[in-house]
Amino acid sequence: MTVPFSEVFLQELAERNDIVDVVGGYVRLTKRSGANLFGLCPFHSEKTPSFSVSPDKQIYHCFGCGKGGSVISFIMEIENLSFPDAVAFLARRAGMPLPEQEDNGESRRRERLLALNRDAARFFHEQLRAPGGQAARDYLARRQLSGRTVTRFGLGFAPDSWDSLTRAMKAGGYSERELFDAGLVRRGKSSGVYDTFRNRLMFPVIDVRGHVIGFSGRILGDGEPKYMNSPETAVFSKSHNLFALNLAKKSKSGYLILVEGNVDVASLHQAGFDCAVASLGTSLTPEQARLLSRYTSEIVIAYDNDGAGQKAAQRAIGILEKLDLRVRVLALEGAKDPDEYLKTFGADAFRNLLDRSENHIEYRLKTVQNQYDLTVDEQKVAFLKEAAGVIAQLPGEVEREVYAMRVASTTGVPEQVVQDEVARQRKQRLRRAQREETRAQLRPAYKAQKAAGGVRYENPRSAAAEEGIIRLLYYDPGLFSGREIDAARFSSPELGRLYAALAARKGGPVNLAALSEALTPAEISLLTSIIERSSDVSNGEKELDDYIRILRTEGCLNRGAPDLLALANQLKEQKGYGGKDGHE
Ligand code: CTP
Ligand code: MN
Repeated sequence: MTVPFSEVFLQELAERNDIVDVVGGYVRLTKRSGANLFGLCPFHSEKTPSFSVSPDKQIYHCFGCGKGGSVISFIMEIENLSFPDAVAFLARRAGMPLPEQEDNGESRRRERLLALNRDAARFFHEQLRAPGGQAARDYLARRQLSGRTVTRFGLGFAPDSWDSLTRAMKAGGYSERELFDAGLVRRGKSSGVYDTFRNRLMFPVIDVRGHVIGFSGRILGDGEPKYMNSPETAVFSKSHNLFALNLAKKSKSGYLILVEGNVDVASLHQAGFDCAVASLGTSLTPEQARLLSRYTSEIVIAYDNDGAGQKAAQRAIGILEKLDLRVRVLALEGAKDPDEYLKTFGADAFRNLLDRSENHIEYRLKTVQNQYDLTVDEQKVAFLKEAAGVIAQLPGEVEREVYAMRVASTTGVPEQVVQDEVARQRKQRLRRAQREETRAQLRPAYKAQKAAGGVRYENPRSAAAEEGIIRLLYYDPGLFSGREIDAARFSSPELGRLYAALAARKGGPVNLAALSEALTPAEISLLTSIIERSSDVSNGEKELDDYIRILRTEGCLNRGAPDLLALANQLKEQKGYGGKDGHE
């Protein structure tokens, strides 16, 4: 059973983790006018900052995507953690001991899965040395992967058998159910289970905290599928993790090398490039990019030298760029992938390649250039436009000038012409960005929510009053003593739930951090957008009277009044909108 953290504890936790410090670890915050700090939102991509942090209210709120909340919701969102895990994360950060938690079923199950994965990794590793592991040892020898590399990555071998792992793990006290939940076995057609990984070289996937969370199994030699990865489990998500980041994060090189294959990672590390990682068979996801950005500000992409690899590189550049990461791309000429490059040309040649690797702008310009025949005038013009578009995205003026010059010399067009085109496109981009931001800023909370895929208010006038009531209740619960408001009157079920959650808490100032458990992230965001607007309650009594009056005339209670228009609307709503409150 889950025992909730006490309010006193959560309050202290929030006090000891100042939101400006915590958010500042992920987002560059700058002071504008007013009390709030601003930065680029880490939850959606934008060019001008609409993510605000309020030191007074200890909340964050993005005017663009509508996300918001307390320091705890921030950590839940950005670190992809559950509420208890986010609390533990912040407690560790502040050096606070966690209160005695009665054993929580979910976290115990997760721990069992992690233990099972670790034991499975040990089993696979032992099999590599067992007599049955000859084929795998031969394969490793053929790929020139050393014993040290095997140990460094904890490589293993899944025997060519339907149940060797199952038997070993059952003997170790794990149930079939647990094996299934870990993705280590599959259910057979009739009954029983069989090992997921068979006759494969096993790469344990280890997260940055050192837990074995899943596996990639490579076929020994040729054949399909080349890789099998663990399915999504309670502890493993392909799109949120990278192979070998646990090792690469300790590298001193100052950048990370992103490759496609696990074998490429292993050979790179073996050759001394200890900063190589691979996305797990997916093309790089935004979550993986965010994870990378916590350990480095520069990524070198070394994807396979084929069409698919180059396309994936282009996509990855776009994703990495949004996070302000410096991106370079390696051109692996004469080899299909980093592993083959090392085998063919040696580590020094690869080092050389790294040293003179192009930054992504050069790479992108070259890719654009390859699409056009510059001896044909129309194509030259088209190239110029597209190239100027690439250059216009560069934040630095000097950089823009340098690349404009380069494009001028490859096309033989006067420098000024290229510069003008870049300036024109840049202005266009900025104007567009500004328009979007202004629109986002002007949007009232409920519209921002709508944009973020959240709430849709049926009755905006009543909803505005309901939001007002919630704001007052948050900042001055005392106003409500002796005044009972029935949450069922609220026209918006979402706001009704917020009201009920706040009203259920007796006395004392409400702490958003303490509410992070009772409410969903969407509800926390909505609440944040409401309390973000103002904490002024000097006119609270009168405001509350007004809101209650509006609620009486607009809220659900009055639905009985013979208002034909409302009735018609109600009918319309019933069609498109299922479980709405208020239709008794
Ligand atoms: N891949 C995968 N799961 C992994 C790793 C890679 O599905 N855990 C897929 C990639 O998506 C890509 C291909 O395998 O399509 C790339 O692998 P490759 O570079 O060929 O793999 P290597 O391990 O380097 O094997 P090889 O020695 O054949 O290059
Ligand atoms: Mn490869």
